[in-house]
Amino acid sequence: MSHIQAYRSAILHCIADPAEVGVDAAVEYFADGLLVVEDGHVVACGEASALLVDLADGVEVQELPNSLLTPGFIDTHIHFPQVGVIASYGEQLLDWLNNYTFPAEGHFHDKQHASDMAELFLQELLRNGTTTALVFGTVHKVSVEAFFEQAEKHNLRMIAGKVMMDRHAPDFLTDTPESSYADSKELIERWHQRGRLLYAVTPRFAPTSSDEQLSEAGRLLREYPDVYLHTHLSENHAECAWVQELFPQCSGYLDVYDHFGLLRPRAVFAHGIHLQEAEFKRLAETDSAISFCPTSNLFLGSGLFNLSEAERHGVRVGMGTDVGGGTSFSMLQTLNEGYKVQQLRGHKVHPYKSLYLATLGGARALQLDDRIGSFRVGNEADFVVLDLHATPLMKYRMAQTRSIEEQLFVLTILGDDRAIRATYAAGQCVHQRDAA
Ligand code: GUN
Ligand code: ZN
Repeated sequence: MSHIQAYRSAILHCIADPAEVGVDAAVEYFADGLLVVEDGHVVACGEASALLVDLADGVEVQELPNSLLTPGFIDTHIHFPQVGVIASYGEQLLDWLNNYTFPAEGHFHDKQHASDMAELFLQELLRNGTTTALVFGTVHKVSVEAFFEQAEKHNLRMIAGKVMMDRHAPDFLTDTPESSYADSKELIERWHQRGRLLYAVTPRFAPTSSDEQLSEAGRLLREYPDVYLHTHLSENHAECAWVQELFPQCSGYLDVYDHFGLLRPRAVFAHGIHLQEAEFKRLAETDSAISFCPTSNLFLGSGLFNLSEAERHGVRVGMGTDVGGGTSFSMLQTLNEGYKVQQLRGHKVHPYKSLYLATLGGARALQLDDRIGSFRVGNEADFVVLDLHATPLMKYRMAQTRSIEEQLFVLTILGDDRAIRATYAAGQCVHQRDAA
């Protein structure tokens, strides 16, 4: 028998990119809205007064006062094995990797440790309203098995992959071109498209893969055209100089990945801070995406992502927390820092653009907008109940607002995990803030 649930609240979701259609045409807002969910999918979203008339007898309507219902947040770049690295002092990228990150990732050969950390990580995402993420594992195949097993238990739409890394890293963290190909292939066969799970071929970044290994990554993408490609790109000046030294025959950092056939739809490059004009063009041309990770880019002193250039070239962009280089699991806090980064670039991010980047924009970067990222009828019912009165300060500040735009802006600047009253995945409640 089918199961119908209805949620009555203020409802806001994006239906387009504000950069393409203007801010007002980019959203749908229902001050007194109703979201109707059947068997884990959206069957209706609109004005409560209109939809309540047609609702079948006996369907219980959950009333959500002082709330705003939005699609679940989408984190387009994060590392599950780096939960214990968050807030590590003093370094920029390359030293941060050697001093903190590689030692922490070394423990993930142990399945029990990986499972425990995967569950802690998923709980933290759900507490923050994130229902989909594109996730780095470690070099160990078992780390990704542990992650998928935990994600499957909660029926989450998650994308993950085993790191491919065969040089410039400690011995306990390196594989070979052959083993990385074989392990990735086994994981794809076992997990890709199983329930809501998807696989990403995951070379860490150009400096830690040989030519042979990057070729194997390209081969996997040719053999399994609907998997993802997930890596890092142009994050830090020293890193960019190193890539130029290691690949002198390539015209730039992006060209290394291009050379091995890694640019394509469903390719997601984290950071992309120090890109040339031609590189933005090439990303757009190949329908590749960038993950904008402001808390990480500030914390590691990497630089200020040029969102307006990405927009101008029509490059797909989503938000990433990049935990543990990033400092928060909260997409609201990530939007807060993203706003400030763009302020430093002389560019105002409208609150609807922020919401877009965290929901529909992320879904588009992942080529999943036919399933998640908005309340389009037929989409999977992943959503968040935001609490407009989460703290005394937010409650006071909300009382001064005159529009949903202003309310949303206050949420993105002052909000964090306290503002997530509940999180739903495929119509099931997966986090309740005030649960006893
Ligand atoms: N570049 C290569 N590896 C990493 C990583 O783990 N985090 C970040 N932020 N950048 C990287
Ligand atoms: Zn990263």
